[in-house]
Amino acid sequence: MYEKHYNLDYLTETLKILSGVKQKSYTYFNDIPEGGTIVDLGCGSGQDVLNMSRMFNTNKFEFIGIDHDPEMITAGQAAIQDESNVKFLVSNVLEVSLAETSVHGVRMERLVQHIGEPLNLFKETHRILKDKGIVVVVESDWNSLSFYNGDSAIADKLNGYLTQQKVNNGRAAQSLTTYLNKMGFSQITIEVFPFVLRNYDDACKYLWIDKMIDEMFSLNIIEATERDRFIESQKHADQKGYFSCSMNIVIASAVK
Ligand SMILES: C[S@@+](CC[C@H](N)C(=O)[O-])C[C@H]1O[C@@H](n2cnc3c(N)ncnc32)[C@H](O)[C@@H]1O
Repeated sequence: MYEKHYNLDYLTETLKILSGVKQKSYTYFNDIPEGGTIVDLGCGSGQDVLNMSRMFNTNKFEFIGIDHDPEMITAGQAAIQDESNVKFLVSNVLEVSLAETSVHGVRMERLVQHIGEPLNLFKETHRILKDKGIVVVVESDWNSLSFYNGDSAIADKLNGYLTQQKVNNGRAAQSLTTYLNKMGFSQITIEVFPFVLRNYDDACKYLWIDKMIDEMFSLNIIEATERDRFIESQKHADQKGYFSCSMNIVIASAVK
């Protein structure tokens, strides 16, 4: 009934604001031997494989971006300039056409939250990784979304909507280490990065807060008076210069 919590434009917008976390996530692959293959599952428009290809010495690694949405893959292919070591595949990440123990690194960003059977994703990741291969997972922790303005009861309802209704696996970020552990990965690490927005327009642009509040009203989760009160208090905080809203982004990593 309602659109997904992202689209091509949204991914392009979030590229800017998440660039620090993205860059950090690439560094986990620093020690992969030359000639290795790194796969980005749920690659969207492919910016991360292209960034990595540009960041690591040209042609040091092979990169494969995989996504089930042909529109995303077409955008990725169109963004290739002279990166001959990057290719894209349209595929479900739960069943990729890569051989067992064939890749050195697997990265995935804001993917696990969309997967209803996350253990199957980590099973597939384990299958394609070589022994000692590295998996790096970047996730937004929707449950950590906090507003420092206005009615906290409505903010709680927004968290509940996002984590339990809107996002398929809305508590994914908090479960990553459990998934990795259950699938037999070792050397599991987790890092948490707060992502802070200082005005209401950015909260709408990067977190789609206005759309979510409208959806909650349409679904009778909140009343019109609650919707209006919440938005009014966010705008008021903004006008007064003390607006703040935050969410954590986590990076989990592990070794096969
Ligand atoms: C929020 S976007 C993140 C895209 C990209 N990783 C990024 O950070 O810019 C989630 C992506 O996962 C893809 N996706 C979701 N479920 C998938 C599945 N089962 N198989 C393949 N791709 C999937 C979507 O098509 C979408 O491009």
